[in-house]
Amino acid sequence: MRIAVAKETRDGESRVAMVPELVGKLTKLGYDVVIEAGAGRAALIADEEYVEAGATVDERALETSGLVVSVQPLDPAAIRRLTRGAATISFLPTNQEPGLVADLRDAGVTAFAMELVPRISRAQSMDALSSQALVAGYRSAIVAAGMLRRFFPLNMTAAGTVPPAEVVVLGAGVAGLQAIATAKRLGAVVKAYDVRAAAAEEIRSMGAVAIELELETLEGAGGYAREMTEDRAARQREMLTPFIADADALITTAAVPGRTAPMLVTSAMVEQMKPGSVVVDLASETGGNVEGSVPGEVVRIGNAQVWGGKNVPSQMPGPASRLYAQNIVNIVTLMTDQTSEDGSFAPDFADEIVAGSCVTHDGAIVHEPTREALEGPLEKPPAEPPAEPAPATDPEAQA
Ligand code: NAI
Repeated sequence: MRIAVAKETRDGESRVAMVPELVGKLTKLGYDVVIEAGAGRAALIADEEYVEAGATVDERALETSGLVVSVQPLDPAAIRRLTRGAATISFLPTNQEPGLVADLRDAGVTAFAMELVPRISRAQSMDALSSQALVAGYRSAIVAAGMLRRFFPLNMTAAGTVPPAEVVVLGAGVAGLQAIATAKRLGAVVKAYDVRAAAAEEIRSMGAVAIELELETLEGAGGYAREMTEDRAARQREMLTPFIADADALITTAAVPGRTAPMLVTSAMVEQMKPGSVVVDLASETGGNVEGSVPGEVVRIGNAQVWGGKNVPSQMPGPASRLYAQNIVNIVTLMTDQTSEDGSFAPDFADEIVAGSCVTHDGAIVHEPTREALEGPLEKPPAEPPAEPAPATDPEAQA
């Protein structure tokens, strides 16, 4: 069977779903790997490198493959080129892209969404949310260091001592912890806050100071944060204000799955920051942790330059693609029948990773929350007619 690597078509997307060094992992499973011409160009990977690794370049890659891998979901024109029964694996934000889900259903495509891979230990190597958050977290600290017109580290020189920069990180999940680690490596003094109780220990293990607020912690299902009440949000903002006013750089990474990002920092709080301070809002695209941040732009609020993140992993397309491609290889391996020698893509729907990440299959939407959002609640089966009263038994007749 052929696996196609799609050329990404969305504006600003420079990643690619497969890299030459991992092509061999797929061919070893028995697949033929075909790429659309120029698929890796934006990630600085030439077609020839894929060919040297054993892939072929084919303009009809989508039409002729049983599985198409991409970073962003395919666009409607590309979906129409797939054969019925083909499969796709990509990010597929079902809430934001209901039209594409309907197109995939109608095209009879089996679509898997990388963001729906359950976050269980067995699926860690397929967790593209984490691999891309790692890239974004690293980048956020580098952007902050690049924008700040002063040193991150302490410098003790013959010409005097320059104190280190102070960095505050809000949200200490995968991206936030990576931002902390990177800012620490650059020598900044880092303080961080997260609503989950477990995060404080993780923050300290990175060598940062965990900001402790006298507020209840908010653990939700699966180790994620829960949404805050407005009252708690207001108190959190009030308590964080002095930490933010003292910071040279503020990096925000907070998210609650399936919701718009919580607004953690008002523009009034940013206005209290020192001249020359910088703010990096990684959550800008999903509503923003910082009031007034604009995805893909730097805006001035008070004394601070506020950088709004927009497809941040794409800003480091080489490593982001390498990590994503490894996630893809791992999930394709899970879905391969390895008893067959010629690349048999046979997802086992009894497996919770397969079932959990599948959005459409066989002309139907199988991810229930998406199906209900698009097609409405299932009709209830008609009520059973009342059971006939059981005939009175004649104890004598039974005897
Ligand atoms: P995320 O991207 O959904 O959120 C980022 C961070 O923002 C989280 O740590 C969250 O607690 C925090 N946050 C939410 N609301 C906040 C608020 N109002 N104020 C401050 N912080 C707030 O989360 P991410 O990074 O994808 O993962 C979070 C956690 O999920 C991990 O630390 C881990 O416990 C768990 N996880 C488990 C995995 C696995 O088992 N395979 C893989 C990755 C994460």
